[in-house]
Amino acid sequence: MLEKVKTIAEHIKKTVSFNPEVGIILGSGLGGLVKEIEVTKELNYADIPGFPVSTVKGHGSKLIFGKLNGVNVVAMQGRFHYYEGYSMQEVILPVRVMKFLGIKTLILSNASGGVNPAYKVGDLMILDDHINLMGTNPLIGKNEDELGPRFPDMGEPYDKTLIEKAKKIATAHGFVCHTGVYAAVTGPTFETRAEYKYIKYIGADCVGMSTVPENIAARHMGLPVFAISIITDLGGSDHPEVITHEEVLKVANAAEQKMTVIIKELIKE
Ligand code: HPA
Repeated sequence: MLEKVKTIAEHIKKTVSFNPEVGIILGSGLGGLVKEIEVTKELNYADIPGFPVSTVKGHGSKLIFGKLNGVNVVAMQGRFHYYEGYSMQEVILPVRVMKFLGIKTLILSNASGGVNPAYKVGDLMILDDHINLMGTNPLIGKNEDELGPRFPDMGEPYDKTLIEKAKKIATAHGFVCHTGVYAAVTGPTFETRAEYKYIKYIGADCVGMSTVPENIAARHMGLPVFAISIITDLGGSDHPEVITHEEVLKVANAAEQKMTVIIKELIKE
């Protein structure tokens, strides 16, 4: 795994000769942030030897190198989800590659279902913790000691300083922005009513199908992480509406401008 990561990182370095400071992974329907990047170079996943290829609608499938608000970034437009059939190793491979490209901070975005009754469709939620309900962990297997410890501490999965800064930015713009706990499930099914009830009961505020594996891989390597969700739907018996991927993408697209503003200003700081 490690050799593969290093080979891919070397290949990318030779191809783009660019030093990213921040890595960004964009979630479903949230690719619009890339419009704000002054692009130096784009690499399709298909043109990176060893890289998986994205399969889901609403994802762009490329690595974008450039400046966002004056800061060198590498953005992943389209992530790899476990439900697509990728192994956990493949899901987290880009995070490890980004680390070898030199990033110092990782920013993650996603679309998620609101569980906290106070949340409304289109709201933002900054992650300050998570619950891994995926039934697996990307670090299972031989530990890569060069990357991080066998038993990584997860006391601060999301960087407190970045959370505080992002909250101030959101308030300054008058955005509704919660801070809460993200529960990660594998999908691809949305939750049953009983599952929603359970997820709420165990203390989660929203639920989604990504982000946690990438967070774990990043924290294993000591990378600070900031993550933000757009609440695209509400589940449970109070909300009998049928959830569709199309609706999730529509709401994400409508709300992403707020998220873009927060990430842009956060990066600057
Ligand atoms: N559940 C799980 N994942 C999701 C949801 C949801 O309601 N909405 C967007 N991603």
